[in-house]
Amino acid sequence: MKIESDFLIIGSGVAGLMFALKVAEAGTVALVTKKRAAESNTNYAQGGIASVFDHLDSYEAHMEDTFNSGSGLCDPNVVEMVVKDGPARIRELIRLGVQFNTKSSPEHIALNEETLDLGREGGHSWNRIVHAQDMTGEAVECALLEQIQKNDRITVYENHLAIDLITCSTRVKRGLVTTTHEDHCCGAYVFDRSGRIVKTFCSKITLLATGGAGKVYLYTSNPDIATGDGIAMGYRAGTTVANLEFVQFHPTCLYHPDAKNFLISEAVRGEGGRLIDAQGKSFMEKYDPLKDLACRDVVARAIDTELKKSGKEFVLLDISHKGETFIKNRFPNLYRKALQFGFDMTKEPLPVVPAAHYMCGGVATDMEGRSDIRYLYVVGEAACTGLHGANRLASNSLLEALVYSHKASAAAIEDLKNYQFKCPEISPWDEMSTTDSDEQIMVSHNWDEIRRLMWNYVGIVRSDKRLERAKRRIEIILKEINEYYWDFKITADLIELRNLATVADLIIRCAMHRKESRGLHYNIGYPEKNDSLWKKDTILRRPFIG
Ligand code: FAD
Ligand code: SIN
Repeated sequence: MKIESDFLIIGSGVAGLMFALKVAEAGTVALVTKKRAAESNTNYAQGGIASVFDHLDSYEAHMEDTFNSGSGLCDPNVVEMVVKDGPARIRELIRLGVQFNTKSSPEHIALNEETLDLGREGGHSWNRIVHAQDMTGEAVECALLEQIQKNDRITVYENHLAIDLITCSTRVKRGLVTTTHEDHCCGAYVFDRSGRIVKTFCSKITLLATGGAGKVYLYTSNPDIATGDGIAMGYRAGTTVANLEFVQFHPTCLYHPDAKNFLISEAVRGEGGRLIDAQGKSFMEKYDPLKDLACRDVVARAIDTELKKSGKEFVLLDISHKGETFIKNRFPNLYRKALQFGFDMTKEPLPVVPAAHYMCGGVATDMEGRSDIRYLYVVGEAACTGLHGANRLASNSLLEALVYSHKASAAAIEDLKNYQFKCPEISPWDEMSTTDSDEQIMVSHNWDEIRRLMWNYVGIVRSDKRLERAKRRIEIILKEINEYYWDFKITADLIELRNLATVADLIIRCAMHRKESRGLHYNIGYPEKNDSLWKKDTILRRPFIG
């Protein structure tokens, strides 16, 4: 089946939805998303969106904090653009119906910037986190989806999982792409999970807004959708990917066998929560003058060190001193969730551990979200724009997605106006030579193995030896998956497994390349930052197969 539109958008988090609403003014939009539309990292975002609203705050201070966190690798032009555009994008969200918290009450009634309550998070020198209680992402996702549903130029395809991008030179057997590196994108092959068929989506402009890759790790704050599909698809199609060694581990996820690493927002520490050990002693003062509000890489490594020293399974996060009324009003969702797992955070500290949270690297883009394949844009966590450098500053991710979907949509609308490209005839997906698999065990085994090996060998603290071990293992797994991929009918699990393995391989290769420690990449063999050799991005591109 062939579906044609001016714009194809892959992903329904903040990046995809915001872009969709804007480009729909200029053309028809097909938006594919692999599960329910709301299922995204965006929907789980807690802390909020960083932006300068306080009259004592300044763009310069927000920029400085972003640079400090990024440890020398942020692009100054990008940082300036994103920080300065922040307030306009927040106002736009308010106009679209997002209800942020006010200074005076816990109710969601901030009607303009004057009344916004501004929280604090790690690495920020000022209060600048705009939030909707502790469920900011859900407030944004719901408001945007409501607008999307009202727009008759946008067709949403739920349970549609993009497999591979289609470029001019795509050879069709299983979407094997062999690009010239001066290629044009003409859409994507998409697996309809309900109908179990592959559809061909043809478009003039394509946006990858597929989010992050937390599921590459055994322990992650991310929901199941975060399998790095866009990064893997982009790489296979021939885009440049960058900085994939910089995986952010959030310091505080709830430690409980059934909690699936439920995130305990950094805003808890922003409101005075303190990390303590089993004896009740605080420890962050040993690691950074900013103590509990140091940048995330520092806090996550400090916890890792404390756990290795003590042999304990978790450290504790205590905010009980703030009292029941404050905690229930400021963190209603965290309070409720923790209680479900048997912890009353108004009375006792919560057991917490770090977990993989955010991918700072991704498909490299310019300042308007263009990748290096013509008519292919990438926005949100799947992109590497130059904003985050070696470590993203807290709450700069939703901000980046908002600013870039705005910039990219304007550029994409221009592309559409001037579009004269004749896309060659696109062949349908080829499944002739494949049969149903009787070896599902290969998929589940490799899935578990990748996540475990990435956690153990490519985690918060790395070494050359561990990275080499990971590299050897992932090469075998990739080979196995590829053989299986060509022989059997595809399933959603197999598509995601192939992407997970590709992204794991890219992370390992980037990490092996960087012979220093910087931001989120810490290698015990090279514990210092080396500006003279390594103050640069790590760039990877798939070799051209002619
Ligand atoms: P997502 O919101 O993840 O959306 C990706 C979409 O793509 C999903 O709809 C997914 O189903 C779809 N998709 C993926 N692959 C495919 C495919 N192959 N085919 C079709 N569809 C596909 N950031 C902040 O700035 N502030 C915060 O307070 C904050 N809190 C967070 C809390 C948690 C628990 C988590 C996990 C993240 C948090 N982040 C926060 C990070 C932030 O939420 C994400 O980086 C951001 O929402 C990413 O938006 P996105 O649109 O790029 O991707
Ligand atoms: C949090 O609320 O701690 C997450 C914020 C972020 O990831 O930016």
